[in-house]
Amino acid sequence: MYNKNTSGEHFETAAKNSLLSLYKYFLIDLTNTIKKPVKGLKILEIGCGPGFMLEQFESAGAEEIVGVDISQDMLQRAAKRSEKSLKVQADVADLPFEPNIFDIVFSRGSIFFWHDLDKAFKSIRQVTKNGGTIFIGGGYGLSTPEEIIKKIRENRGDSKQNDIPRLDPEMLCKKAQSYGDYAEILSAPKRGFWLNWKKGES
Ligand SMILES: C[S@@+](CC[C@H](N)C(=O)[O-])C[C@H]1O[C@@H](n2cnc3c(N)ncnc32)[C@H](O)[C@@H]1O
Repeated sequence: MYNKNTSGEHFETAAKNSLLSLYKYFLIDLTNTIKKPVKGLKILEIGCGPGFMLEQFESAGAEEIVGVDISQDMLQRAAKRSEKSLKVQADVADLPFEPNIFDIVFSRGSIFFWHDLDKAFKSIRQVTKNGGTIFIGGGYGLSTPEEIIKKIRENRGDSKQNDIPRLDPEMLCKKAQSYGDYAEILSAPKRGFWLNWKKGES
């Protein structure tokens, strides 16, 4: 499990060797879903790790980018990849921000490790603007070309995936809907899922 003192070395090396080509497709999944570019938006990434998505958001012209991670070392690694973003060490269940300030809250590959989902969802929703989008998931992405996924699977072996704790996406969707918000699961077989959650006015 990840904590404040977890080293990011193992994940950064593994991601560089296998996942690197996926991150631009995670951004495409997001922009396809919100139906606009992220240019000009204020984005919070939870569990940003060594910063591969922060880099994407920065290149895409996001107005403000904040990366949160529980591990201090991950954030130091993220600093090498994304200068513009603010890096904040925090637990997703206790986000140190004002309410209603982010247009987008994005998280990929991190939710499987959150120890208190109810607190995490409440904390995320609180910092999201009314009408903002919360986009949380894991896997290879929905717009990623099949040949890229195939190559990654061959390189890393799908056994790696067995290390990741499982979560029921429908359970996550119901949790989001319990706030009275719109939420849906976007998924495809063997690719993973996204929870697309839009914070309502209440
Ligand atoms: C598998 S890595 C994914 C990193 C990055 N999102 C990516 O896809 O490259 C999971 C990340 O979530 C972070 N994390 C785990 N539990 C967390 C929590 N409770 N609060 C904030 N970050 C957390 C870990 O430190 C780690 O950097």
